[in-house]
Order: sequence, then structure tokens, then C-alpha cells
Amino acid sequence: MESSPIIAPSILAADFARLAEEVHTIEDAADWVHVDVMDNHFVPNLSIGLPVVQSLRKATSIPFDVHLMITDPERWAPGYAEAGAYNVTFHAEACEDPVALAKTLRAAGTKAGLAIDRDTPIEPYLELLPYVDTLLVMTIKAGFGGQKFMPELLDKVRAVRRRISTMGLEIRLEVDGGIAADTIEQAAEAGADAFVAGTAVYAADDPAEAVRKLRALAQRAMVTP
Ligand code: DX5
Ligand code: ZN
Repeated sequence: MESSPIIAPSILAADFARLAEEVHTIEDAADWVHVDVMDNHFVPNLSIGLPVVQSLRKATSIPFDVHLMITDPERWAPGYAEAGAYNVTFHAEACEDPVALAKTLRAAGTKAGLAIDRDTPIEPYLELLPYVDTLLVMTIKAGFGGQKFMPELLDKVRAVRRRISTMGLEIRLEVDGGIAADTIEQAAEAGADAFVAGTAVYAADDPAEAVRKLRALAQRAMVTP
């Protein structure tokens, strides 16, 4: 397994009127910033889209981890790659040919991620691991920040980690939803090595310190499972 955790604060929990400042608050402490794009079709919520990502990209150098919770990702995902995203993750439930879209994204110069929502079994997607750079396992139902972490979804993380090890792959295994100081260790022990945290970072008095704490907890749990 990769030895150092990725901590990716989600700006869904940030103050949208001060997005650049909110990113600056965590950019020295975090590895990626997680950008949740919602279209009110794939999920019953609407957040931000391409113009915001294009503007924000100019305001910081931290890598963008874009999480597309949208229908028709084939149409929109390449635009995020062109806007300079480091990683673009689309949902398995929204995509007919994930391998083809992952190829398109890689050709557009970004990493390709595949996300698996709460109610989707992982088994059919284990075969696709060699074609992606990031596998995101939702630990809630996608759509809203601030939900309660669902530990039963870590069985999927364990299954993915086993397959990554068996196949000797170098991909990031990301968890998203309810990740906080009291849940990150169990996610790390299950095999995750990239951690999205919205509320746990942006509702904290000191978001950068919250990131450092999450990193220390994840690091310890990854070294001594
Ligand atoms: C929800 C989003 C998450 C969200 C996580 O569908 O994908 O990234 O921001 O928020 P917390 O960490 O508050 O659960
Ligand atoms: Zn997300």
C-alpha cells in the first residue's frame, strides 16, 4: 500500500462566498482539494460546476480532486481535465463505459477516478481497477455533506484493497462521506489511503490543524492495521 495518506478537504463544506480564501486556509496542510460537482439529476442537490473550477484553478496550486456526481459524465468530465484538475472521478452508476471514459480522461492529461455509491455492489467493478487511477468508495449516500459515516460500507474498501494487492496495482483508494477524527482510522485500517473530509475540516475552528490531525490518525492506522 502507498505509505502516506492523501487528505482531501471538500469545499462543499466551505463558505462559497470566500472559496479562494477557504482553499488557501488548507493548501499547505492538505494534499488535494476535493471539489464536489452536483447536477440535481444524479443526486438531489446542486453545487458548483466548471466555471467555478476554472476560476478557482487560477487562485491556488493545490491539486484538484473533482468528484462528478452528475449524469452524462462523458459530456462534462473532459472539460474538468482541460480546466487543470489533477483527478476527475465519475460515478459508475452514471456511466455506461467507465473504461472508455477513463481513457478519455487520461488522454486529456488527468488521472481518472471511478466512484461507487452506497447502494452499488463493488464486485462488477473490481475488474476495472487496472484502468483507473483512483477508486472512490462512498461511505454515505452521495448528495449531501454532513451525513453519518456508514462503517458497513468498509467491506467494499476491504474488497478493493485485496484486489489492488493481488494485482499489484498503484491506484489510490479513496473514501468519501462522514470522514472525521472518530472514523478515519477504521477507514485506513480497511485499506483506504485517500480521505475526503468536508465538515470535519471546514467546521473546525482551525481547518489546517484539523487536516494535520486527520493525517496523523490515518498515517498511524495505515502503518499498524
Ligand atoms: C457528498 C460529497 C462529499 C461531502 C463529504 O456527496 O461527495 O465529498 O462533501 O462531506 P462530509 O465530510 O461532511 O461527509
Ligand atoms: Zn465528494
